[in-house]
Amino acid sequence: MSGWATYPSLEGRVVVVTGGATGIGAAIVEGFAAQRAQVVFLDVQEDAAADLSGRLQKDGLKPPVFFSCDLTLADQLQETVSKILSRFGMVDVLVNNAANDARHSVDEVTPESWDQMMAVNLKHQFFMTRAVVPAMRRAGRGSIINMSSISWVIPSTGVPVYVTAKAAIVGLTRTLAHELGGDNIRVNCVMPGAIATERQRRLWLTEEYKAEVLKRQALKRLIEPEEVARLVLFLASDDSAAITNQSYVIDGGWV
Ligand SMILES: NC(=O)c1ccc[n+]([C@@H]2O[C@H](COP(=O)([O-])OP(=O)(O)OC[C@H]3O[C@@H](n4cnc5c(N)ncnc54)[C@H](O)[C@@H]3O)[C@@H](O)[C@H]2O)c1
Repeated sequence: MSGWATYPSLEGRVVVVTGGATGIGAAIVEGFAAQRAQVVFLDVQEDAAADLSGRLQKDGLKPPVFFSCDLTLADQLQETVSKILSRFGMVDVLVNNAANDARHSVDEVTPESWDQMMAVNLKHQFFMTRAVVPAMRRAGRGSIINMSSISWVIPSTGVPVYVTAKAAIVGLTRTLAHELGGDNIRVNCVMPGAIATERQRRLWLTEEYKAEVLKRQALKRLIEPEEVARLVLFLASDDSAAITNQSYVIDGGWV
C-alpha cells in the first residue's frame, strides 16, 4: 500500500473486521495489516480466509487472526467476541462489514427469508457492537464503522430486503453515535456505490451493467475495494477523532 497514507495511531490497535475473507472486507483486512494493526477477522469462508492470511504473510505483513463464525448465530457471535477479548483484552476498532446481497424479488420474500436476510445484513452489526462496547468503554475510546450502501438512496431494485437493511444501518449508526459518544466511542458509516469486487465481477458486473455504472458515475472508471478500505482506515484512525454520526458515500459520484 505504499504511496497511501500511514496512520501511526493504527499501529498495534486491535481491529475486528466481519466478513473479512473476501471482497471489500479482505481489502480492509489487508489495509489494516499494512498499518501494522493487530487484525482479527471473522467469516464463514474458511478457505478464502486461509488464502488471504497466506497472501498477507507472504507479503511480509503481520498475520491476521481468523475466527470462523456465522454471524447470524447469536451464540457463535458472542462466543467469538469472548475469545477475541480473552486473547487480546481489547477491541479498538470494529468494522461491521459482513453482508449478503443475493438477489430476491418482492414476490419471493417469505417471513423466514426476511428474517434470514435481516440477520445477515443488519442484526449482527448491532450485536457485534454491543459485544465489544464494554471493552471500548474500559479503554475510553473506540471506532466503529458500519458498512451500508448507496443502494437505498438510488434506490436499487431486485434486492428489497438487503436495501431495507442497508438503510437501517444509517439510522443504527446515528443512534449509536449518540448512545456511545459520551464514552469517546465513535460510530460512522460507509456507503459504497458499485465496487468491483471479485464477486461483483463474477455475478453481476456484466458489460451492460458496467456501461450503466460508468454512465451514472462522474468518474468513468470502476471503483476498487482498496479505495473503500482507505476511507475505513481514515475513520478508524485518530486523524478522524472528531468525526462521528456520519455516513460517507464512496461511489465515484453516482447520480
Ligand atoms: N461490492 C459492492 O459493490 C458494495 C456496494 C455497496 C455496499 N457494499 C457493502 O460493503 C460490504 C462488503 O461488500 P462486498 O461486496 O465485499 O461483499 P461480499 O459478499 O463480497 O463479502 C461479504 C463477506 O461477508 C461474509 N459473510 C456473509 N455471510 C456471513 C455470515 N453469516 N457470517 C460471517 N460472514 C459472512 C462472506 O463470506 C464474505 O466474505 C457489505 O456490507 C456490502 O453490503 C458493497
